[in-house]
Amino acid sequence: MSEILKARINLSKITFRRMKEEDINSVLEIERALFSLYKDAWNYKHFLFEIEEHEFSISIVAEYKGELIAYAVCWAMFEEFHIANIGVTAKYQRMGLAEYLMKYLERELVTDEENMILEVRTGNIPAIRLYEKVGFKVFFERKNFYSNGENAYVMIKLLKDGVWSKSTVSI
Ligand SMILES: CC(C)(COP(=O)(O)OP(=O)(O)OC[C@H]1O[C@@H](n2cnc3c(N)ncnc32)[C@H](O)[C@@H]1OP(=O)(O)O)[C@@H](O)C(=O)NCCC(=O)NCCS
Repeated sequence: MSEILKARINLSKITFRRMKEEDINSVLEIERALFSLYKDAWNYKHFLFEIEEHEFSISIVAEYKGELIAYAVCWAMFEEFHIANIGVTAKYQRMGLAEYLMKYLERELVTDEENMILEVRTGNIPAIRLYEKVGFKVFFERKNFYSNGENAYVMIKLLKDGVWSKSTVSI
């Protein structure tokens, strides 16, 4: 089925740009649909803070045929490029968009950082597989990281030779 769906999106027609305040309502629609289940969806103020106040934050949206269909919020802090939030609207999932977005983030936005890092629910198999596909590995598990008590894997993609390279966990 995914091959049929994949034919419906032309990744070269995707435009990435910085998130603006006017985008927040569209982003929230996607965010709520994706994360309400976990009861920890970000709200308007969270996104506004990222855009207007958080000095290390870079928020990106993806547009296709005039529609906002994906987003990512990243924190470029010290030696780390942290993916804080990423989502693709259900209609366009499993078409290669998140992979394309992750590669865009690494290619266009990572500067001097030594690694890319993120937390992911240990039960979020689609996201874990995505991150593995673009080169992340599980380094360790954080207990009770999420508000519902779920654990997080901390996944890292080393961009330079790192001392942690022997301590990855296979899952
Ligand atoms: C995780 C998410 C961002 C993936 O977006 P996407 O655009 O559908 O992902 P892609 O189509 O680029 O998939 C890339 C790879 O990820 C993996 N993947 C994506 N969805 C998957 C699924 N449902 N099951 C298993 N693997 C999956 C596959 O390895 C896939 O490569 P393949 O299609 O060649 O097998 C999307 O499912 C989403 O928005 N989920 C809800 C929000 C979320 O969980 N965000 C991450 C929080 S840490």
